[in-house]
Amino acid sequence: MADASANGAFVEFERVQKSYDGETLVVKDLNLSMPKGEFLTMLGPSGSGKTTCLMMLAGFETATHGDIRLDGTSINNIPPHKRGIGMVFQNYALFPHMTIAENLAFPLEVRKIGKAKREEKVKRALDMVEMGDFGGRRPAQLSGGQQQRVALARALVFEPELVLMDEPLGALDKQLREKMQFEITDLAHRLGITTVYVTHDQTEALTMSDRVAVFDDGRIQQLAPPDQLYEEPENSFVAQFIGENNTLEGTIKEIKGGLALVQLDDGGLIDCKPINVSEIGQRTRVSIRPERVEFNPARLSDDAHTLKAEVLEFIYMGDIFRTRLRVAGNNDFIVKTRNAPGQVRLKPGEQVEIGWLPEDCRALDAA
Ligand SMILES: Nc1ncnc2c1ncn2[C@@H]1O[C@H](COP(=O)(O)OP(=O)(O)OP(=O)(O)O)[C@@H](O)[C@H]1O
Ligand SMILES: [Mg+2]
Repeated sequence: MADASANGAFVEFERVQKSYDGETLVVKDLNLSMPKGEFLTMLGPSGSGKTTCLMMLAGFETATHGDIRLDGTSINNIPPHKRGIGMVFQNYALFPHMTIAENLAFPLEVRKIGKAKREEKVKRALDMVEMGDFGGRRPAQLSGGQQQRVALARALVFEPELVLMDEPLGALDKQLREKMQFEITDLAHRLGITTVYVTHDQTEALTMSDRVAVFDDGRIQQLAPPDQLYEEPENSFVAQFIGENNTLEGTIKEIKGGLALVQLDDGGLIDCKPINVSEIGQRTRVSIRPERVEFNPARLSDDAHTLKAEVLEFIYMGDIFRTRLRVAGNNDFIVKTRNAPGQVRLKPGEQVEIGWLPEDCRALDAA
């Protein structure tokens, strides 16, 4: 392969657009730059363009506009056998006429690896996904989850530099899924494999990835490490899509000293961090995480604004309490508190004051 590009990126999408029918763009403007060894997850609703992006990176679809580069070379100029890409697709198609072991040996044969070495690598890969005893079977003789694990082993058996995985754990039960999540990230990091991973499952995305790209409507809405994505969503879509979130609608009344004062629709006033709002009178949707809401005003600063709330429901969940409140006309305002010594258990019908630190409350776009 050619030398890495000037900025050291291993995978790059530059202003990429894709249309299948020549009319609608399913990928609208994709810019992405991944260093070697990164584990990046594409997360987003169905139809948001994730698989399309993987197919373009694999070279099975061509971009309508823009450029995709692998190690500094435009993907169109790299012949398929030199791409060194391992793939696991949504419909993990194994070769039905071959045994499991033959399926795994295939990518090694293509790469002219000798028989002894081949057998050793196949065995190691099958053991990794706990399918060591199944080498002699055909795919039709395996369950869906077992086939998926074999597909995973086949993608990794030739130690590719880049691995693309499209929902590779979708057919597995929770326990095996969590085990495989760990195995995949551990292996990727140990071997320095660059990985683009696609999932619908946000917990999976948050726990496995170095960075997550949140897709919607053919664009990356935010690209950030998991903690930043959760704690600092840049727009309403990301705030709603990642984790649980409370939203209140209002209008910007003042922006001063790095704080926005928001007049909520039912009258209350709150302090927020202005994120993508800039003008007085602008509509906004403010976003606050359930675990950042404070019942005890003593823990807030003296000049903090608070809101009146009515308790609608108290749910005991063991480690945490989940309390549903009516706040500013919203009947689904959730507060999560830790089941710590002395923590109050609110009862339906109680009236309380709630507040939060302004930096935990984000004034986002109203759309
Ligand atoms: N071969 C194709 N021909 C025409 N349209 C396609 C083709 N493949 C995908 N599309 C359309 O492109 C859009 C994006 O599809 P894509 O498969 O990339 O979504 P996705 O994010 O992977 O969704 P999912 O989470 O459901 O797998 C969809 O509207 C889909 O209908
Ligand atoms: Mg898909």
